Amino acid sequence: MNSVKAVSMRPANCLLHRWKSEGPPVLQIPDSLGTDQAGRVNIAACSATIEKIMDPVVRIDSREIEKRLSSSLIYGNDLQLSRMHKLCELTASSASREMLAALDFLPTILLFGPPNTGKTTLAYRLLSKVKESNNNANLYYLNFSQVMSAEYGETSKNIAKAFDYLSQNTADDEFKILLIDEIDQFCMSRSRDNEHDASRRAMSALMLELDKIHPCSHPRLVVIAATNVQDKIDNAIVRRFCLKLKVNEKLQREDFEEYTSKLIGCVSSLACSVSLSVSQINSLYQAYIESNITIPDIKGIFRNVVLEDIHDWDMFFSRLDHGFRSGYSSIDNTLEAV
Ligand SMILES: Nc1ncnc2c1ncn2[C@@H]1O[C@H](COP(=O)(O)OP(=O)(O)OP(=O)(O)O)[C@@H](O)[C@H]1O
Ligand SMILES: [Mg+2]
Repeated sequence: MNSVKAVSMRPANCLLHRWKSEGPPVLQIPDSLGTDQAGRVNIAACSATIEKIMDPVVRIDSREIEKRLSSSLIYGNDLQLSRMHKLCELTASSASREMLAALDFLPTILLFGPPNTGKTTLAYRLLSKVKESNNNANLYYLNFSQVMSAEYGETSKNIAKAFDYLSQNTADDEFKILLIDEIDQFCMSRSRDNEHDASRRAMSALMLELDKIHPCSHPRLVVIAATNVQDKIDNAIVRRFCLKLKVNEKLQREDFEEYTSKLIGCVSSLACSVSLSVSQINSLYQAYIESNITIPDIKGIFRNVVLEDIHDWDMFFSRLDHGFRSGYSSIDNTLEAV
């Protein structure tokens, strides 16, 4: 790793004052990115990376989104996706502005549900759906590492600057989705008394920013927050989100069949005559419903069975069934010592 002084032509505004008083920060740049073959520091590559790291709001690269979505279709959340999409369409259309204003229809969405149920993926999926009809759309995320600061008053200023940054650094006609993932990081209510001051101020600053959002003032911005501890989010924050959507924890039987069949298709080169009979699907589904297995845990069960290097389908299925019944969990899944 190289230690380099971060010198950018266009540093994020919110950090300018700190740079003036403390000098530029020193960042670790991976060798592969920071130097050319002769070992010289590649300033262009470094500064692009540094800018990205230091911006309060970061645009998610469309290749990253494609990569993530190509390997993970989202099942069982069609209703959630279509409501979110409808809200985006209404927000983007100037014809609906009067109706949106009259109904206090704000472009703010709160996604909640247990861990691993697809909230973040759903935000990515929404962008790709919006892009089907509007190519000039992008997904941004709030860069917590830049926004949160131990210095008095800085965090709330940074929250405000994040929203300013978004409006100043993007084209007016661009459709923007701002993802505030894991919003509980600074919007918990129960620990309010002893909560870190910075978090409390960040929460107030966020509320102020959300209050400024109006169909007429931010016509092309939709804010999506996601959390898996919705009960602990401060009510004042929750009520500022217009559309509150719970993601489905468990797949319906039909979606489950489609999901497992897709995974079976992926391993078809390993086990012969791969297809699930109705009773086999029923057996797996029952075990899935009765356990705390999440959707990605199903992939984990498949991974374990694949690692056993089984080529016989009956054996493959019986191991799969055992995996479902023994309540696989990605958290406590460990191979027993052999
Ligand atoms: N309904 C679903 N259909 C298909 N894949 C899913 C679904 N839900 C979750 N997954 C898969 O599970 C993994 C985790 O999803 P994701 O990160 O979106 O969950 P999350 O709800 O944001 O979790 P956390 O609360 O921990 O942030 C991803 O690989 C995703 O594709
Ligand atoms: Mg997530």
